[in-house]
Amino acid sequence: MSVVPYKDKEGSKREQVAEMFDNISPKYDLLNHLLSAGVDIYWRKKAIGYLKKQKPKVILDIATGTGDFAIEALALKPEKIIGVDISEGMLAIGREKVAKLGKQDIITLQSGDSENLTFADNYFDAIIVSFGVRNFQNLLAGLTEMNRVMKPNGTCVVVEFSKPRSFPFKQFYNFYFKYILPLIGKTVSRDSAAYTYLPESVQAFPDGEAFLEIYKRAGFVNTKCISLTFGICSVYIGQK
Ligand SMILES: C[S@@+](CC[C@H](N)C(=O)[O-])C[C@H]1O[C@@H](n2cnc3c(N)ncnc32)[C@H](O)[C@@H]1O
Repeated sequence: MSVVPYKDKEGSKREQVAEMFDNISPKYDLLNHLLSAGVDIYWRKKAIGYLKKQKPKVILDIATGTGDFAIEALALKPEKIIGVDISEGMLAIGREKVAKLGKQDIITLQSGDSENLTFADNYFDAIIVSFGVRNFQNLLAGLTEMNRVMKPNGTCVVVEFSKPRSFPFKQFYNFYFKYILPLIGKTVSRDSAAYTYLPESVQAFPDGEAFLEIYKRAGFVNTKCISLTFGICSVYIGQK
C-alpha cells in the first residue's frame, strides 16, 4: 500500500498528490525555506553542480513545482529548460517567478506526468528532479520514462529526502520531522495532511542503495548516491 496524503479520501496517489500541491502551492516556497532553514537552496545548488562538466543544452526538470530547480539550472547556461508537473497550482506560481526573472525565453513550465511523458525518445541532454520522485505513483515507471526521453550519455540528477542513520542526529531529526515540522506545516499551509504526508512518504521511500537498485532497473548506468547534510538528503546521479 503506497502512502497517500489524504487517507480517508478516494483517488489515486497521483490525484491526491496533485490536489495536495494545488492546496499548499501559495505557501510552498515559504514553508520549504522555513522548515529546512534555507538548506534546500544549498541542496539544489550542490546537485546542479554535478552537471557543470557536461554543460547540457536542453534540460528537463521533472516535478518542477514552483520551478526552483529549473531556475537553479540556469547556472548551467542551457538553451532550454522544460519543467513539467501535475499540479497546475504549483506551475502557476513557478511561471510568475520565471516571468519576474525575465527568463521565459529559456524556461517553459508545462503540465505533464513523469509516468507518461509526451517527449520523443533520446531528446534531453540532462534530466533533473528535486523532491519529486518520492511522490510518484509508480517509481519504476516514472524513472523508466525519464530514461526513455534522455539522450545516450546524458546525465540524470535526482535529489530526494533520505533517512539519517547516525546517532544522535537521527533521533533529533526524527523528533523534528515527526512532531515539529507537521505542526508548523499545518499552521502555515492550512492543509492538515500535507506535512504529515511528508515524513510518512520519506519513511516509506526506498533511499540509498534501494533507490540505486530501482534506478538501474529503469535503465540508468554508472549510478551513484551522494549523501548530504548527515543523510537528510541524497543526490542520485545516473547516466544512459
Ligand atoms: C515537493 S514538490 C518539489 C518541487 C520542486 N522540484 C522543488 O524542488 O521545490 C513535488 C512536486 O512533484 C510533483 N509531482 C508528483 N508526482 C508527479 C508526477 N508523476 N509527474 C510530475 N510531477 C509530479 C508535485 O505536483 C509537486 O509539485
